[in-house]
Amino acid sequence: MLKQPSRTASVIQASTTLAIDSKFKKMKAEGYDVVGFAAGEPDFNTPDNIKNAAHKAIDDNFTRYTPAAGMLELQKAVCNRLNNDLGIDYIPDEVVVSSGAKYSVFLSLECLTDPGDEVIIIAPYWVSYYEMVRMVNSIPVIVHTKESDSFKASAEMIRAAITPRTKAIVINNPSNPTGMLYSKEDLRLILEVCYEEGIYVIADEIYYKLCYDGREFVSMGAIDKKYRDMVVLINGVSKSYAMTGWRIGYSLSGKNIASMIANFQSHSTSAPSTISQMASIEALCGSQDGISYMKSEFEKRRNYMVPRLNSIEGISCIMPEGAFYVMMNISELIGKSHGDAVIKNDDDFAQLFLEKGLVSLVPCSGFGIKNYVRWSYAASMESIGIGLDRLEKFISELR
Ligand SMILES: Cc1ncc(COP(=O)(O)O)c(C=O)c1O
Repeated sequence: MLKQPSRTASVIQASTTLAIDSKFKKMKAEGYDVVGFAAGEPDFNTPDNIKNAAHKAIDDNFTRYTPAAGMLELQKAVCNRLNNDLGIDYIPDEVVVSSGAKYSVFLSLECLTDPGDEVIIIAPYWVSYYEMVRMVNSIPVIVHTKESDSFKASAEMIRAAITPRTKAIVINNPSNPTGMLYSKEDLRLILEVCYEEGIYVIADEIYYKLCYDGREFVSMGAIDKKYRDMVVLINGVSKSYAMTGWRIGYSLSGKNIASMIANFQSHSTSAPSTISQMASIEALCGSQDGISYMKSEFEKRRNYMVPRLNSIEGISCIMPEGAFYVMMNISELIGKSHGDAVIKNDDDFAQLFLEKGLVSLVPCSGFGIKNYVRWSYAASMESIGIGLDRLEKFISELR
């Protein structure tokens, strides 16, 4: 008899956003006038200078393998850009360029943990952290945060979750899905607890360029040199440069960890696409004007969306400080009905709002928190206006 496939693989869940997304796509294909706010990617096109660099790379025959950890020119560009933007000091040997920041997070977990280790994740979390921890046979330990604490975990909350089996914590700043930003002092206190306990910090800073109201982003890598060996920084071009499909992310860490990550990568995906690497060199070294434009557009949309959401009875949200997501609190709507359908939880709300209101949002139960749905404002102002009009109408129809 054929043996069972991997136990680990069989418990990994498909992304929770998938169900709503496939329904959205199906409705769209059937001709429904649906609008989507579920996407986790900028709605802007990749800036022209970056696209031109990719065309040139092909014409110049940059079409062969590169070193497994990425091209030296790109590793240098990452060091220079992040040194310039964040004041962090890394050398090319400490940078591994991967096929997306998601894979950088995964490789970091592979290289830092052994089966049975615990990894702390702060909820609401980006759903992939949870599954990635399980994919490396480690145990996710969730620190739950509340809206009244701006969805931020304190150093003491993290200390309380640490056990002798804790190996690492994953921190996303600014956060998907909450849009919250940790201050320098918050980060220092968290790092100090992790330092005292000897655990690693995987700091996913992929949204660092998107902080609003003039807020300063502080990198986990810029707090103090004494934390250097325990921190793995994650970053990439996807969100900042509207390059999600180019699949370029990177990790920055001490040389020892970086060479382990590079070894794992060399036996799995090898280096990412050479053409995408060439485009990313231009993204990091060329004009940064495209980013300023995108950031100011995101900020305008957030400033329009949040007060309008808060003016609608029955729902509320706090003002996100970064990234491009808003968490909408729907707890007052639980138990209400639309026609015969009762809203028992955020999944029901998202299904019903899509079916009856023709708007797709992401239910947050898959992110480790109940009774919230996530809007992405990586959508045009016109779509946002339509989405909010439809929300008002939908809520007025609830009984
Ligand atoms: C918190 C976070 N980290 C990483 C990623 C993935 O980035 P990439 O597209 O570079 O793999 C995402 C994408 O949604 C994200 O939200």
